Parts: sequence; C-alpha cells; structure tokens
Amino acid sequence: MADAPSVLSFLLMLLLLLLLFPAFVLSRDAAEFVFHGFNSTTLALDGASVVKPSSALKLTNVSDDYIGHAFYPDPVQMFPTGSKSSSNAFSFSTQFVFVIRPSSPHGQGGYGLAFVVSPSNKFPSAEAEHYLGLFNSSNDNDPNNHMFVVEFDTMNGYNSSEDYKGSHVGINVNGMRSIAAQPAGYYKDGEANNKEIPLESGQAIQAWIDYDGESQLVNVTIAPIKEAKPVRPLLSANVNLTDILLEDMYVGFSAATGKTTSFHYVLGWSFKVNGTAPPLNLTLLPLPPNDQESSSYKPQIIVVIAVLSTVAFLLIAVLVITVMVRRRRRLENLEEWELDCPRRFQYKDLHEATRGFSKTKLIGNGGFGSVYQGILPSNGCEVAVKKISRNSIQGMREFVAEIESLGRLRHRNLVHLQGWCKRKDDLLLVYDYIPYGSLDSLLFKRKDGFVLGWDQRLHIIKGITAGLLYLHEEWEKVVIHRDVKSSNVLIDAEMNARLGDFGLARLYEPGATSHTTNIMGTVGYIAPELVRSGKSSASTDVYAFGVMLLEVAAGRRPVGSGNFLLVEWVVECHRSGDILRAADPRLKSEYNTEEMELVLKLGLLCTHDNAQVRPSMRQAMRYLNRDETLPVVADWRLSDSSRSTEMSMKFLEIISTDTFTGSQESYYSTSRPFSSFGPGR
Ligand SMILES: *[C@@H]1O[C@H](CO)[C@@H](O)[C@H](O)[C@H]1NC(C)=O
Ligand SMILES: *[C@@H]1O[C@H](CO)[C@@H](O)[C@H](O)[C@H]1NC(C)=O
Ligand SMILES: *[C@@H]1O[C@H](CO)[C@@H](O)[C@H](O)[C@H]1NC(C)=O
Ligand SMILES: *[C@@H]1O[C@H](CO)[C@@H](O)[C@H](O)[C@H]1NC(C)=O
Ligand SMILES: *[C@@H]1O[C@H](CO)[C@@H](O)[C@H](O)[C@H]1NC(C)=O
Ligand SMILES: *[C@@H]1O[C@H](CO)[C@@H](O)[C@H](O)[C@H]1NC(C)=O
Ligand SMILES: *[C@@H]1O[C@H](CO)[C@@H](O)[C@H](O)[C@H]1NC(C)=O
Ligand SMILES: *[C@@H]1O[C@H](CO)[C@@H](O)[C@H](O)[C@H]1NC(C)=O
Repeated sequence: MADAPSVLSFLLMLLLLLLLFPAFVLSRDAAEFVFHGFNSTTLALDGASVVKPSSALKLTNVSDDYIGHAFYPDPVQMFPTGSKSSSNAFSFSTQFVFVIRPSSPHGQGGYGLAFVVSPSNKFPSAEAEHYLGLFNSSNDNDPNNHMFVVEFDTMNGYNSSEDYKGSHVGINVNGMRSIAAQPAGYYKDGEANNKEIPLESGQAIQAWIDYDGESQLVNVTIAPIKEAKPVRPLLSANVNLTDILLEDMYVGFSAATGKTTSFHYVLGWSFKVNGTAPPLNLTLLPLPPNDQESSSYKPQIIVVIAVLSTVAFLLIAVLVITVMVRRRRRLENLEEWELDCPRRFQYKDLHEATRGFSKTKLIGNGGFGSVYQGILPSNGCEVAVKKISRNSIQGMREFVAEIESLGRLRHRNLVHLQGWCKRKDDLLLVYDYIPYGSLDSLLFKRKDGFVLGWDQRLHIIKGITAGLLYLHEEWEKVVIHRDVKSSNVLIDAEMNARLGDFGLARLYEPGATSHTTNIMGTVGYIAPELVRSGKSSASTDVYAFGVMLLEVAAGRRPVGSGNFLLVEWVVECHRSGDILRAADPRLKSEYNTEEMELVLKLGLLCTHDNAQVRPSMRQAMRYLNRDETLPVVADWRLSDSSRSTEMSMKFLEIISTDTFTGSQESYYSTSRPFSSFGPGR
C-alpha cells in the first residue's frame, strides 16, 4: 500500500501551487478578459456563490431553492458611445468551462446554469428553480428586461408544451422561453450526428457563445473538456440584439437549485467584444472540484484528522445504512429475487392508500379476497387493491413472474393490472380503479329501475369480445382468462367493458398433471369438457363468453332457481322456432331483432357442447361485426340422451354450495376455487 502521508503532502503541494499561481491574465481594456480560475476580487459574487480555495467558482450549494450569481464587476460597452439608436450591437464572444455535479452522488440534481448579458448584476426579486435566479413569474418574458441568456438547464423546461426534456441548452431573450433549444450535445467534426453530453455528469464541459452583430447570428457550441471546439455549433439562431441590449451591460453567470440541488462550478472564462474570445489554456484551469461541501485549505495535521474522521464517519454511515436497508427489507419481508420486479409495490404505500385496509374503503368481497379502493400516495392515482389473504399459492416466484407479465398487457377492454405486493401470507394485487361497477350489477342489481339499453349492451358485448380476442390471439402469448363472467366485466365511465381478473385463476390450480384436479371457473359458465378434464383452454373461455352473451341478451342469470339453466332454456326457445322469446322482456322489444337474434345464436354457438364447433374469438368478432354470417348448426346441443344427466346433477350440487342470490357484490372477482370435480370422484 502507498504511504498515506506522502500522498497527502503531494496533494497539498498541488493545492498550494494552484493557490499561489491562480494564473489569470486580465486585460485592462474591459472589452476583453480571460480567467483561468478566479479570486474573490475578480468577480462580483452574490447569493450562494463563492470562490473555492482551488480558485474554481462555485455558484450553488446543497441548500434548496438557492441562487448564485457571479458577474464581471464592470459593465461592458455594447454599442459605440452615444449611438445606440443608430447602430447595431457589437459582436461578442465568450468561452468558459463549467461543471455540474448533483449534490447527492447518484441522484438527479437541479436546476441549471446560465450565461447572462444583463443591464444589472443584481436580481433582488428573481426566483430559483426554472427561473435560474434571473426572472420571476411576473417579469418573465417582459421586454423591459433587456436580457440575453444562454441556459444550460438540467431539468425539464417549465413550459412542457415547448421546452425540452432533461438536459438542454437554450438561447433565451428576456425570459425562460427559448428562441432555440437543443438537448445538450455536440457535433464531432466530420460526423453528422449529435453526440449527447450529459450536463450533470460532474465532468468539465467547454462552452462557446459567439454573437455576430452584423448578421445578428448567435452560435452556441459545447464540447467535452478534451475536445477542440467543434466547427458546427449546437445551436445557431438569428437574434437581433440591437433592441434588446443596452449600451452598458453586465456579463456573468447565474445558477439556481430547486427541490433537488446540484453544485454548479465555473473553472475558467474568457470574453471579448468585437472579436473572438481568447482561447482558454485548459492546463491552467483549476481541477474540477469534487467536494461535497468540504475542504478549505488547512494545516496538514488538521487535514489528516479530517480525512481520518471522514473515513471513520463513512464507515459508520455505511454500517448504519446497511443495517437500515436490512431492517427495511425485513419489514417488507423481501426475498432477493423480489428486488428487481418493476411491478412490486411497497406494502406501506398500499397500506396508506387504503387507510390501513379500512372497512370504509372496502368495495367488494369475493372468493379470492377483499377489494379495497385506495389512492396511491406517490401519484394520487385511484386504484383497486385486491387482498388475497392466507393464500396458499405454491411457487410464489413463478406466480410473480406471471403477474409481472400480465402487468404488461394493455388494452382498452382490460382492467390494467398495475402490480403486486407480498407480505407474509398476504398477496395484494393493484388494479386500475373502474368506478361504475360490474356488468353483473348493472344487469341484475339496480334497484332504481334502470335498464341497460340494447345499444349499450351491444357495445359492451363488442368490448368484451375485443378484450378476450386480445388475450387469446393478439398478445405475445396466449392468455386464458379462466373466469369469464359478468361480474368480472367492469364498466367504465364511457360504458366500455373492461375485463378484469384475467389469467390469474390458473395460479390457484395445483397443476394440470395432478390427480386431484380443481376446476377454476364459476357455476353456470363452466364448459362441459372442463368438468370432465379440468383443463382450461381458449374454448372453455369461449363457452363462458357464450353464456355471458345469453345473459346480456336474455337479462337472466346463467343458473336460477328450479334447476333453471339459461343455456338449456335458450336452446328450447330456439328449437321451438322463436329464439326471440329469450330476449330480455325488460327491453320491451326495443331492440334490433336481427342483432338480438345474432347475439343469442352466437351465444348458443359459443356454448356448444362440442368444443370443436365453438368459434374462436376472432370468428366471434367477425360474426358480431357481420363480416361473416353465422353458420347454421342443426343440433345446437348434443342429443339429450348423450348429455349426461350426471352432469346436471353436478350442477345442482354446485348450486347448493354456491348460490347466486346475489348479496355478494362482486368486484374484480367473486370466483371461488371450488374443488373436487376431478375424474376420480
Ligand atoms: C485577484 O485577481 C486580481 C486580478 O488579477 C488581482 O489584481 C488581485 O491581486 C487578486 N487578488 C488576490 C487576493 O489574489
Ligand atoms: C448556501 O449558501 C447560502 C448563502 O451563502 C447560505 O446561507 C447557506 O447556509 C449555504 N448552505 C449550506 C448548506 O452551506
Ligand atoms: C419580479 O421582479 C420584478 C423586477 O425585479 C419586481 O418588480 C416584481 O415585484 C417581482 N415580482 C414578484 C412576484 O416577485
Ligand atoms: C408555453 O408555450 C406555449 C407555446 O409556445 C405558449 O403558447 C404558452 O404561452 C407558454 N406558456 C408559458 C407559461 O409561457
Ligand atoms: C456560426 O456558425 C456558422 C456555421 O454553422 C458559421 O458559418 C458562422 O460563421 C458562425 N458565426 C459565428 C458568429 O461564429
Ligand atoms: C435589428 O434591429 C434594429 C432595430 O430594430 C434594426 O434597425 C435593424 O435593421 C435590425 N437588423 C436586421 C438585420 O434585421
Ligand atoms: C468595436 O468595433 C467598433 C467598430 O466596428 C468600434 O467602434 C468599437 O469601439 C469597438 N468596441 C470595442 C469595445 O472594442
Ligand atoms: C498552457 O499553459 C502551460 C503552463 O503554463 C504552458 O506550458 C502551455 O504552453 C500553455 N499552452 C498554450 C496553448 O498556451
């Protein structure tokens, strides 16, 4: 290991050298100057700005909403004496080197630095943040400001409709609105493309601003410290400064912080009126400072003590932080793999959002768990949080992978699954909040006599069709819904249908190969082959979809009292030659008979006992849009004899355990994993 004291004394020598030879040359003629580093008398400082012992100028510190100014102390003459009215403003040119370093090592800083030509070097009522210490909300863009500004802004512009995202360079006159702006970058000579320069990198950046008073053209060029001045400027804009500038102007810099802060430094600066600014000798510049609010020149012993105590402090800080992170993780009960799941929510946020899962926030209760309405503290978004308690999900990791993937599904007819959170045995799913409730409640639970009109019903049906089509055929992989039913269809403010709870049911199945196969689904919506095999598929979804079509058209639940089975009943109506008899009487014949017939017949086709006969969702869509006519299927059902009475018995059995007398308002799902219809029973 290197000998620590000797390294230290070497660094100190370097520091001393820089201090004793702050190599700047000042031309007595005020129209030209060049500074390699600064001292406290070369500039008029104001606000948070200071000259560091290294001779670097530091404009801002870690304080929020602070401003720093540094101006050349004397005004610069911008017009021939006494003849502002009759001639153009003089040309001028400047070069400087700056460094912007966010005050927290990996965080985003704020807000930016500006080169300013201004009638005054005092800005008593200027604001920080986006105004960069130069303007305020009432004088921004006021022509009486007489200011020319080149901004090096590290935040999104305050006027999102016109300003640039993130780090950008802009030419402004009298305010923060840019005449021209570009993301920070440079055109390396011989290359056509702009290379990005992150302004907040903590690296030194060179900037040149050249104004030609004859052609009224401003060029702004930036480049990393090692590069020569690029031939092609980043920004080139026509700005007639004749009316904007006054005869005597101050030139200098302004920087500001906001809720986030950066250190803004200027290491060297040259300026000239009527000519090209003397190029800076980069070897003479102070080293880019890397202080975090520390280090002024001290005797060696103090430095040693300071360094040692800093090291000790850092060690302790690292220890404390590690312990805190560990404890935090333990609180959230995280396993390693959970850390890089983008859709994981923090339990405390959901707890806060639902006011501690308060009863007043409860909006639904289903077989899988309770649903709470909440408002996320982070962004104020309304969400529905489904809490699945004491879940027995095997293979949590695979489950989460599935949710992460379902969270990427986006369709206007699906309820978006935003994410999840696991805490001990509880699993929480976070969905978009859809205010109007379910199709089921709209059809059957309204007590105010409201009847869903036919056009609305058809619109809802088409929405469900589109959503299910997307799940089955249009996403990157096939997603079987497994629990299509009217209480899983939510209706949004525009009467659009949004399918909820898709894809999750599978996770409650202990696995297709197991002997004790549990069926997922809801009584009345379960395809016959699903009862036999226990295997969900796209066509078992289609079956449930068909039941729902009948439900919407007939306005009756899939199963009712007295062994009523909706599907059977519609088949009867059809056999008797009057399928319209099945239409919802509450509609009072206010419907298009062709459409009604289409929906009922499509419902029958989809609920055909033979899965082969059922259409795909894409076909169903084509039938509904009348791009294709429905096939004529003679035997809608298998013959009564081949249809096992055993199955009807099973339905009855189910009905007795899971009634539909509707006190349970279902939201997102009331489906209940009921078990034991495996072949072995
Ligand atoms: C600061 O720089 C100016 C201009 O070169 C010089 O006259 C002055 O002596 C310097 N002051 C200090 C304290 O170094
Ligand atoms: C930042 O600068 C201002 C103005 O000099 C000062 O009041 C403030 O205490 C400084 N903040 C810190 C954290 O040093
Ligand atoms: C904005 O600045 C102008 C000029 O300095 C001043 O007259 C005005 O009062 C300030 N307005 C606010 C809202 O601070
Ligand atoms: C934002 O930019 C738009 C488009 O240039 C402009 O119409 C609007 O006045 C600007 N808003 C503010 C606050 O400057
Ligand atoms: C500005 O840049 C253009 C090239 O884009 C160049 O022709 C022009 O001379 C430059 N003007 C000044 C004042 O540097
Ligand atoms: C610049 O503005 C001044 C004053 O309005 C005007 O006299 C002059 O012609 C303008 N120059 C150009 C090139 O437009
Ligand atoms: C700039 O040049 C003009 C003539 O083009 C001259 O009148 C003026 O004095 C010069 N200004 C400076 C500061 O050198
Ligand atoms: C820059 O300064 C160094 C150190 O004084 C000197 O050796 C070198 O010649 C200078 N470079 C230029 C281009 O002036």
